[in-house]
Amino acid sequence: MNKSQIRLLSSVVFYLCWVGNASSQFPQLEQSKEYWQRKEFMSWKRNYAALVAEGFMTEQKEIIVYYGKKLLDTSGDESWSELFKAESKNPVFKQKSKEFRDEVQAMMNGMAQKDPDAAMSAFTRSLHRCYECHTQVRSGGRSRLAQ
Ligand code: HEC
Repeated sequence: MNKSQIRLLSSVVFYLCWVGNASSQFPQLEQSKEYWQRKEFMSWKRNYAALVAEGFMTEQKEIIVYYGKKLLDTSGDESWSELFKAESKNPVFKQKSKEFRDEVQAMMNGMAQKDPDAAMSAFTRSLHRCYECHTQVRSGGRSRLAQ
């Protein structure tokens, strides 16, 4: 074997190790389409909520109202029920979904009434509903953080 063949062989070995390692680090790559849709749906919610927070911190009403509406539009029972068929039958999920929506609506009302403090408080409460839905529905009643 000459030098360039050895170099080629060692890069092939390196590549195979890398691929093997990467796929074991990311086993979720083998998940179903529905899994990815759910993940994407929730990631958008997180992005909208982060942008609303940014709107508050930078005191830009347009950002809060724009992304607050996006949060509301993606939180109706019908939005959830498509991707969260099993969970949507769970009364706790339904309740948390409603409470979340109500707080986002209260935030929007606060903005409409030019009462940013009330809007900010409602936004904080809405985040608490995100957390409660996760701990009570996804993790079955106890936060994973408490383990
Ligand atoms: C009514 C229940 C409910 C509410 C409210 C809710 N979530 Fe979720 N969320 C879920 C469920 C169920 C999952 C698990 C999805 C899965 O893994 O299939 C999830 C998963 C997630 C994930 C993980 C996605 C991933 O990459 O695995 C993020 C991030 C997330 N939610 C953010 C939020 C944020 C931010 C809010 C509030 C603005 C929120 N959620 C409100 C039920 C809820």
